[in-house]
Amino acid sequence: MKIPKRIQPLVEEGLVDAVVRQLMSGKEATVYVVRCGDDIRCAKVYKEAAQRSFRQAASYQEGRKVRNSRQARAMEKGTRYGRKMQEEVWQNAEVDALYRLAAAGVRVPRPHICFEGVLLMDLVTDARGEVAPRLNDVELTEALALTYHACLLRQVVLMLCAGVIHGDLSEYNILVDADGPVIIDLPQAIDAAGNSEAGPMLERDAANLASYFSRFAPQLADTQYGKEIWALYGAGLLTPETVLSGRVATDDRPADVGAVMREIALARKEEEERLRREQDMREANAVSWSYR
Ligand SMILES: Nc1ncnc2c1ncn2[C@@H]1O[C@H](COP(=O)(O)OP(=O)(O)O)[C@@H](O)[C@H]1O
Ligand SMILES: [Mg+2]
Repeated sequence: MKIPKRIQPLVEEGLVDAVVRQLMSGKEATVYVVRCGDDIRCAKVYKEAAQRSFRQAASYQEGRKVRNSRQARAMEKGTRYGRKMQEEVWQNAEVDALYRLAAAGVRVPRPHICFEGVLLMDLVTDARGEVAPRLNDVELTEALALTYHACLLRQVVLMLCAGVIHGDLSEYNILVDADGPVIIDLPQAIDAAGNSEAGPMLERDAANLASYFSRFAPQLADTQYGKEIWALYGAGLLTPETVLSGRVATDDRPADVGAVMREIALARKEEEERLRREQDMREANAVSWSYR
């Protein structure tokens, strides 16, 4: 097809030879199948800031690193330079996350480069070499749902061990290739350590998975994998090998009301004694004063 204007710079740089077809046009990006030499790849063209939606929200931006403080100040002030920097940080966030996750062994498309707001990565394909379907479009049996759910939880754990939380994990951002689920769409990925919303976001990602797969495997509905993973991570106990139960230990021993009341009574007695001692001291001082 005719080269779209936004892909032209990549053709000029020799990064792309031809555009095969448009795959999708969503809220955040337009995705094309492209040819690079002998390889068929995927080109994700990010929309301009003004056309994008919710994912610029502050909770996703928090903890995102920029190279120096001048850039950080410019971004805060919203100067033209600042907005350009912000745009660059946003556009590079996905390729950065993909490199980090691919290195950690997470099933993501292999990234190649992000250039002029276009991310080049491997095209995820199915067993026949066709573009892989989204999880949402795949017929599942109970057994397959359980297998995919377990595989994806493992990916979530691997990601968290690499310090990354997807932040928008759903059946629409998971493709299914010949070997199982592949995670895509990471421009909003967040830094697990530097973001105060990290826990809730991880729990939401895990809850999305449980909710989707529970349509095929109802036993997944009341699991608590997100809470469990976050608690283990917080305690420094999460590793890629951690075996999960889907349960969190809750303290369900009956509260010992008697012991609590005794504690309160003791504290009150101590306070009364302290006040009495103070009073005695004041009186003693007053007496010694009057003798002078
Ligand atoms: N590497 C890839 N291989 C195959 N298809 C892809 C790839 N990346 C994206 N797609 C397709 O493009 C769609 C949109 O991509 P996505 O990264 O989810 O962007 P967004 O949802 O922000 O528009 C996906 O649902 C998927 O169908
Ligand atoms: Mg998407």
